[in-house]
Amino acid sequence: MTASPEEAPTFRYPDSSVFYRDLERTYQIAKRAAGAWIEADDGRRWLDACGGALTISVGHGRPEVVRAAAGQLENVAYVHGAQFTTAAMEEAATLLVGSLSPAYRDAKVYLTPGGAEAVETAIKLARAHALATGHPERHRIVSQWPGYHGNTLGALAVSGRDSLRAPYLPLLAEMPLVAAPWCPRCPLGLRYPECEVACASEVDRAVERADGTAAAVLVEPVLGASAGGFAPPDDYLRSVRRATAEAGVLLIADEVLTGCGRTGRFLASEYAGVDADIVVLGKGLTSGFLPGGAVVVRPEVVDAVAPDFRHGFTFSHHPVVAAVVREVLRVIRDERLVARAASLEAEFRTALEPLGGNPAVEGWWVRGLLAGIALHPEGAGGRSARQFAASAWERGLLVYPVGGPEGQGDLVVLAPPLTIHRDDLAEIGRRLLSAFA
Ligand SMILES: Cc1ncc(COP(=O)(O)O)c(C=O)c1O
Repeated sequence: MTASPEEAPTFRYPDSSVFYRDLERTYQIAKRAAGAWIEADDGRRWLDACGGALTISVGHGRPEVVRAAAGQLENVAYVHGAQFTTAAMEEAATLLVGSLSPAYRDAKVYLTPGGAEAVETAIKLARAHALATGHPERHRIVSQWPGYHGNTLGALAVSGRDSLRAPYLPLLAEMPLVAAPWCPRCPLGLRYPECEVACASEVDRAVERADGTAAAVLVEPVLGASAGGFAPPDDYLRSVRRATAEAGVLLIADEVLTGCGRTGRFLASEYAGVDADIVVLGKGLTSGFLPGGAVVVRPEVVDAVAPDFRHGFTFSHHPVVAAVVREVLRVIRDERLVARAASLEAEFRTALEPLGGNPAVEGWWVRGLLAGIALHPEGAGGRSARQFAASAWERGLLVYPVGGPEGQGDLVVLAPPLTIHRDDLAEIGRRLLSAFA
């Protein structure tokens, strides 16, 4: 621990007992957070343009969510999901299903301790479904590169992120990874629309090449952090839906990052009018008040795997997480935050427009309240996403840096709270510009 000029203590490795996420960084104590702002104990304030890890949906510090969690803690803090249900769990599941398209009307919700656990649950459901429907040879999950589904070993096996996978490759199951529809840096070197979404045919081919062993295709309907939150052409998801239906394999939509209104629809897959068999949620579902995720499972899948689905965590169906989810979903519904994210897209775009002329910026894009900026690290005034995030930090702005896939420039992702004030949206644009200076 050392004292900063303002006399607020700072913390760093190796002096602290904490195993930090970033061992090279000096940390300050976050004292309070409200709306789109986080304040440290020395009084410095940051505009949270990325909701931490692209997580905050209803804004920091919502008193009604705090009350909902506290009320549940007082009544029943914990029961084992195999022994009891709770009113919070029942109501959260009903609200969640009610937020989705009618195709999910009879779907069931499996609440998990986080996004990666929700992805693991979805993968195991796909395998259990294959077994239950008489296809014991089906165990592979076709997924995308670049792509990210979590840092547990199962989720990493289906994630197209070389730097995260490399050290653990001997531990990862071999899964087919196909080119994602990442038009700004097309992995196939093609251009839309002349490409006729050739990347979607890659999915068909991967399922074919798997030679009867594919159980599911797992996609991020709007690409996640690894591709800077880029929204692909709608034809892509529709083609993938057709291919999975023809091959008789499940479609899993990972909407951990894009769900709960982030892109201006409750699910990003709604843009393509596609309903997946399994939807994975996290992040905005709890808005960071507690760790949590969920899997929404269509009844055909639930009925097939019941009653033999052997799965669960100590903290699945957790009553306090359920109470938080219930309240967050109520706020999203009552404050019409999905429509708000859609209507703020134009203002967000206007706020980011000045970036277009910057030689350090290769490109940028927006969908709802999710935006990505691709940097030219070698360009004039260029720097890595981490360096850019450090410069933004100095200007009181939090952004989410992602090291670009090998040989490509870095990415900066923005995902402000869906409740962000219009002036703060404009302020993000101003601070971003000054961070490039
Ligand atoms: C699309 C996607 N899926 C899954 C995850 C994993 O979620 P968690 O970090 O809560 O385990 C993430 C996290 O960034 C994600 O972006």
